[in-house]
Amino acid sequence: MRDSQPLENGMLSNKIQTAINQQINEELFSAYVYLAMAAEADRLGLPGFSNWFKMQYQEELGHADRFFNYVLERDAQVELLPINQPEINDESALTLFEKALNHERHITQCISGLKDLAKSESDHATDVFLEWFVNEQVEEEANAQQVIDQLRLVDGNPNGLFMIDRELATRTAAPDA
Ligand SMILES: [Fe+2]
Ligand SMILES: [Fe+2]
Repeated sequence: MRDSQPLENGMLSNKIQTAINQQINEELFSAYVYLAMAAEADRLGLPGFSNWFKMQYQEELGHADRFFNYVLERDAQVELLPINQPEINDESALTLFEKALNHERHITQCISGLKDLAKSESDHATDVFLEWFVNEQVEEEANAQQVIDQLRLVDGNPNGLFMIDRELATRTAAPDA
């Protein structure tokens, strides 16, 4: 394993390898968070919300998989770290999506940090690989914000909540997950 400067098509530097393994963990933790949210939404009697979170859970597994495959592709070593327990307790539809948005903002910061690291290590392949995630995070934050806006609009009105639940029930797995 090399210390810093990676070969153009060779192994990852130690720093990049460690950071991407950390990101695999972040994405698996994201999956865990959304799975906990799916259970909580079901408990709240909101099957559409539960479906949306379940789809997002699958999408996060896909994100972890992208990083996993990339590490292997670069002939580097995958290290699977322990996954933390999500803190999802006594939520409402609104607090679930507020937590989702805060979580995605955190992930956006992680991706930005990775991007900065790739640049400082002159790892162009990793820099380009991360572009997909930069764009994905714009979408993730916008999706959560959109539901928050709708929930604030209906302001706890049961009919409104029912309508949003029906809409979220239509989400199917994203093809780019
Ligand atoms: Fe993700
Ligand atoms: Fe997405």
